[in-house]
Amino acid sequence: MAITIKSDREIELMRESCKILAKVHDQLGESIEPGMSTLDIDRLGEKLIRSYGCVPNFLDYNGYPASICVSVNEEVVHGIPSKHRIIHEGDIVSLDAGLIYKGYHSDAARTYAVGKVSEDVQKLMDVTKQAFFEGVKMAKAGNHLFDISNAIDEYVSGFGYGIVRELVGHGIGTHLHEDPQIPNFRQNRRGPKLQPGMTLAIEPMINMGRADVEWLDDDWTVVAQDGLPSAHYENTVLITDGEPEILTLL
Ligand code: MF3
Ligand code: CO
Repeated sequence: MAITIKSDREIELMRESCKILAKVHDQLGESIEPGMSTLDIDRLGEKLIRSYGCVPNFLDYNGYPASICVSVNEEVVHGIPSKHRIIHEGDIVSLDAGLIYKGYHSDAARTYAVGKVSEDVQKLMDVTKQAFFEGVKMAKAGNHLFDISNAIDEYVSGFGYGIVRELVGHGIGTHLHEDPQIPNFRQNRRGPKLQPGMTLAIEPMINMGRADVEWLDDDWTVVAQDGLPSAHYENTVLITDGEPEILTLL
């Protein structure tokens, strides 16, 4: 499949979809408290998405059984919400959420600290977020796709963290996952040229320790093999002739 270029009308719909998701994330982030279960977070997230008249796009995606991915500490992504999984002060919780508005998908993730976390863990979260912003600086028409990947790698590698390689960012539009795939680690070629109207989900997943991950027996939850914390930060971005528009931030 080729990389889709969105029309002006489609861009408007993407903007709206992403703006709603930004609001959902903000409301969800504010509500996180020690003692909640990861299922409580999912239920609230789904309710918020539906309150805007939208549909959660993760629900039933390849059989995924919930609306929000809630990944705690060493869980990298795709943690399945459970009423038995209680979050505690000192945990970090990655929330990945997406929705469909009038046929157009949005996708974004944030990692939150529950109460106070150690300095090491806070730094991991800060670097992961900044990795997105280092990548997005390169997300301009005329640049090439892997300029984004290389910028993220260059920034993160300086901290000695492990960049997850098995999962990547992606194009997004009338489907949650469209071409191209967007690795967060160095590529030895430039990749396709970026063009105005492309919408991309850029999403570094960074481990405090080694990059290696494995899947739990639920076949969804991706964890850091060494058991050290992992963080995730993602936004849906529009390529323009000028500066990129980060659509899932208010
Ligand atoms: N945000 C995730 C991704 O980027 C989607 C979660 S997969 C799902 O690609 F199955 F949980 F939906
Ligand atoms: Co994504």
